[in-house]
Amino acid sequence: MKRILVINGPNLNLLGRREPGIYGSTGMDDCLADLRMRYRDTAEIAYFQSNHEGALIDRLHEVGFDSALTGIVLNAGAYTHTSLALADAIAAIERPVVEVHISNVHSREEIRHRSMISPVCKGVIAGFGLDSYRLGIEALLAME
Ligand code: DQA
Repeated sequence: MKRILVINGPNLNLLGRREPGIYGSTGMDDCLADLRMRYRDTAEIAYFQSNHEGALIDRLHEVGFDSALTGIVLNAGAYTHTSLALADAIAAIERPVVEVHISNVHSREEIRHRSMISPVCKGVIAGFGLDSYRLGIEALLAME
């Protein structure tokens, strides 16, 4: 059994209610239930969400040296565009991180075009709605 951790950053606790025209009307609970069903024979999928930069960094440190963990699917929300500290944490850990975004950040405001974390992630998936999380998991499973 593979082990995947999905991490969501700020405001993503409001998925399903937050700007549904951009992020859709499905909540993360339903998304996770679908993912856990889909990968029930392949991968255990753990989940962590925080609105706090330091809590995200703490969690990356906690799991990031665990060789039993296949990797991390990270939607860092707006910290994607601002957080050198998050980028440093991803660079520091050993487990692979796939950056995901629900929306196509490149078709949105210019400030969302820059990612602080892309250079230290294995790759980036953006623009596929909640399916971006599944694609991130697929990428991690394909890497091993
Ligand atoms: C997001 C895109 C970010 O620009 C934004 O701040 C988010 C969500 C996405 O999943 O599309 O909070 O990461």
